[in-house]
Amino acid sequence: MKYVIGIDLGTSAVKGLLVNQGGEICSEVSKAYPLIHKQSGYSEQNPEEWVEKTIQALRELLERFEGNRQDIEGISFSGQMHGLVLLNREKEVLRNAILWNDTRTTAQCERIREVVGMEKLLEVTKNPALEGFTLPKLLWVQEHEPEIFKKAAVFLLPKDYLRYRITGKLHSEYSDAAGTLLLDVREKKWSEEICNLLQIDTNICPPLVESNHMVGTITAEFSSQTGLSESTNVFAGGADNACGAIGAGILVDGKTLCSIGTSGVILSYEEDATRNFQGKVHYFNHGKENSFYTMGVTLSAGHSLSWFKNVFAEYDDFETLLKDLNNVPIGSNGLLFSPYLSGERTPYADADIRGSFIGMSASHEKNDFVRAIVEGITFSLYETIAIFRENGKEINTIISIGGGAKNEDWLQIQADIFNAEIVKLDNEQGPGMGAAMIAAYGCGWYQTLEECSNHFIKAAKSFRPDKENTTRYKQLFQIYKKIYNQTQNINKELKSFR
Ligand code: XUL
Repeated sequence: MKYVIGIDLGTSAVKGLLVNQGGEICSEVSKAYPLIHKQSGYSEQNPEEWVEKTIQALRELLERFEGNRQDIEGISFSGQMHGLVLLNREKEVLRNAILWNDTRTTAQCERIREVVGMEKLLEVTKNPALEGFTLPKLLWVQEHEPEIFKKAAVFLLPKDYLRYRITGKLHSEYSDAAGTLLLDVREKKWSEEICNLLQIDTNICPPLVESNHMVGTITAEFSSQTGLSESTNVFAGGADNACGAIGAGILVDGKTLCSIGTSGVILSYEEDATRNFQGKVHYFNHGKENSFYTMGVTLSAGHSLSWFKNVFAEYDDFETLLKDLNNVPIGSNGLLFSPYLSGERTPYADADIRGSFIGMSASHEKNDFVRAIVEGITFSLYETIAIFRENGKEINTIISIGGGAKNEDWLQIQADIFNAEIVKLDNEQGPGMGAAMIAAYGCGWYQTLEECSNHFIKAAKSFRPDKENTTRYKQLFQIYKKIYNQTQNINKELKSFR
């Protein structure tokens, strides 16, 4: 029996999956690491933590593995997107990584809009300038830490740095490069035009490859630290959302994904890069060669629940926290939640907005708050579905993955709010499975990723919208939609108190 490993370098933890040729998960390990919030709006991580925790995870996976280590033929990666890792000429890390949910770069986004112009930006990168993307972070370091910027020889995205430490080779791949705002998405090359306009030396951009490209094998040092064989083939991998999509079979036109992790996304497959959503949703290269996806992002999806749990329900696990979801009626007894804990991306690109509970009364109990959070996250994700539908996309079936797919009551809420059939997968493993599939395809086990997904992915159950619930939610959504406009200025004024 042959095996592959999928590593998902997430925001809160790194997860490793050992998968056999039948697509079965033989073993899984997860190791958590912290976020560093030096001030409101800042979000960083120490790249060394990613490496250390990945070594621990792999060592554990391999200790449990009873087979022949040479039979682990390939390994690949999924990673949190957009994070900036800067290396000097000696390939040493120059500062903490600045992550996708860091929103310090509003001024740099304005500079990009002024210098490059919205039209050119959308034409080349297919995306507007948003605080989370990599280019604004690069400009922030250029402006605020010029001494560090001067020493920077190359930038990498998080999983590309991890892979560099495993192989000793520097690469980026298209699905993650698309989230930098420096990639010419259609032409699949770094945009010299954008680099020149913003005085960025193109040499700082790493060489580009396809997700399934074999970039090297395991260094002797990494092999001795983890037990992985030096002969294991290393494949480039993809952005976590691209890998989540691969791992859920979002590989042909008409397929849509709802993924709820720290962030939440609604993602839809695109055959080419010709559609125009006026920058209202992200438009990125897929991990499947020469294909694309569009996506809306709720920055604090699962994060809203974990925040609530950490602050108000420390001793509950998520299962306990959500167990009474269905004992609270639609509308959470008149309580609404907007999930803007760290600003928002879709449909309101606003780094200053913050979340709200509206309608609190002394009769509300913990479970009302939990249901309101779940409904608020789902409404926020629905806003992306509404953009897709307004632009002519037909969305009738959605595959749901991540934390949001673990609770069946929440899956029914998704069906009712999205007014679509929601499919739950059997033994769903999120982006880590997509990474493993890239390795399986790269190893030549299958001719195409679609063929791999037909073998690896099975639907377990589906949830259909209940007409009455959908009607109630349509009414509630009209009220939810008012929260952004009505709290926007209050939050701007509150900013000086943060
Ligand atoms: C996507 C995004 C997040 C991260 C989470 O644009 O910023 O979904 O990829 O890891």
